[in-house]
Amino acid sequence: MKEEDKLSKIVALCKRRGFVFQGSEIYGGLAGTWDYGHYGSELAHNIKELWWDHFVRNQDDVYGLTSGTLMPEPVWKASGHLDGFTDPMVECKKCHHRFRSDQLENKNKCPDCGGELGEEKTFNLLFPVEMGSVAGTKNTAYLRGEIAQGMFVNFKNYIDTLHPELPFGIAQVGKAYRNEIAPRDFLFRVREFDLMEFEYFIREDTWEEHFEKWRTEMWVWIEKVGIDKDMVHELEVSDGDRAHYSKRTIDFEFEYPFGRKELYGLAYRTDYDLKKHMAEAGVDLQYTDSSTGERFIPHVIEPSMGHGRTMLAVLLSAYKEDEMNGEKRIYLAFKPAVAPVKVAVFPLLKNKPELVAKAKEIFSILRKEFKSVEFDDNGNIGKRYRRQDEIGTPFCVTVDFETLEKGEGVTVRDRDTGKQERVGEGELLNYLKQKFA
Ligand code: GAP
Repeated sequence: MKEEDKLSKIVALCKRRGFVFQGSEIYGGLAGTWDYGHYGSELAHNIKELWWDHFVRNQDDVYGLTSGTLMPEPVWKASGHLDGFTDPMVECKKCHHRFRSDQLENKNKCPDCGGELGEEKTFNLLFPVEMGSVAGTKNTAYLRGEIAQGMFVNFKNYIDTLHPELPFGIAQVGKAYRNEIAPRDFLFRVREFDLMEFEYFIREDTWEEHFEKWRTEMWVWIEKVGIDKDMVHELEVSDGDRAHYSKRTIDFEFEYPFGRKELYGLAYRTDYDLKKHMAEAGVDLQYTDSSTGERFIPHVIEPSMGHGRTMLAVLLSAYKEDEMNGEKRIYLAFKPAVAPVKVAVFPLLKNKPELVAKAKEIFSILRKEFKSVEFDDNGNIGKRYRRQDEIGTPFCVTVDFETLEKGEGVTVRDRDTGKQERVGEGELLNYLKQKFA
């Protein structure tokens, strides 16, 4: 399979099987927005849940946050986003399409129609929102361009309510909005996306040790979620290319079909944000060391993981084509923890009530344990297997006549090998639990 074809095959599969649809599709689609269907929502939810378990619940010193997506103008003034969150833009004089000029090979000619390009302008990526309805007043808020500012503006609340000792982190998963000039490449560059990220507050002299710790942990996560490690490469971001707040950044780049590009970022944000908010808001954001009484502004290490790009890298890593029983097949080799459906249960035939009843009994036992379990009695069994392969279900359980008449248990089919094993009815739950462990 050609790498260039892989993205269009995945986009087609995502639509065909109900993972991802173009946002507001019946109105021609809104560029840079995507809607997740049933299986896409399950996959998205499982990734967030796994991330939260890994980076919040399994850590001793990381606390969760869910902050508002609307934040007032002074937040973005203090953070530097009002002035610095910009991309260089050019517009075609003929077709009026807009492009990021730093991504164009020929800065004079429109790549879409060949027309002449206008002069380069600086374009701010924040989405302004007019708030309130009092006549004559103008109150501009912004849809958050990064979720990190939620952690900084709540820093004092965590100090006052949880009294944590340094180092500690504040983590959140939630929406960010960026008015990208040229959204493209499916879930890669969009205007509305979820971020999974935390700010880890530290003493300045320990930044290198914590940077290394989270760098290692990000690799553990990459493997855990099912991204092919061989397709991920670290890039030390050079001085001129780093964000305005960062003293050191490593990008984790992924080999997408459209090139090697950023998947995640790890940044040393110093005390930049807390210092700026302290000055802008006029609120003391210093930390007090409980044993020495020393007061200072903590520094910050920030592991930042885009959720949509995780979805895309997981899909690209999981997508497989092979031949089974003389037929071509497509399957998604998801890790069980993120698979939208964990197990599917089939009666061999739809018109045999005793097979259907037994399959339903097994289905309800498995659903209690694994939650996302499907029952399917439609069409021939081969078709049902193919459908589950395409949505990435790790195991299919089939109830047949041997189950009923000879008490020989059910068959359990493995998605990746297509091999079937007979498993006693009483052992099925433990058998599957072990497979998922
Ligand atoms: N708080 C730091 C921050 O927001 P960033 O590099 O601007 O840093 C973090 O973004 C992550 O968000 C990126 O590593 C990427 O995974 C994701 N991301 C950024 N822009 C995106 C976009 N337009 N569409 C989808 N994901 C995006």
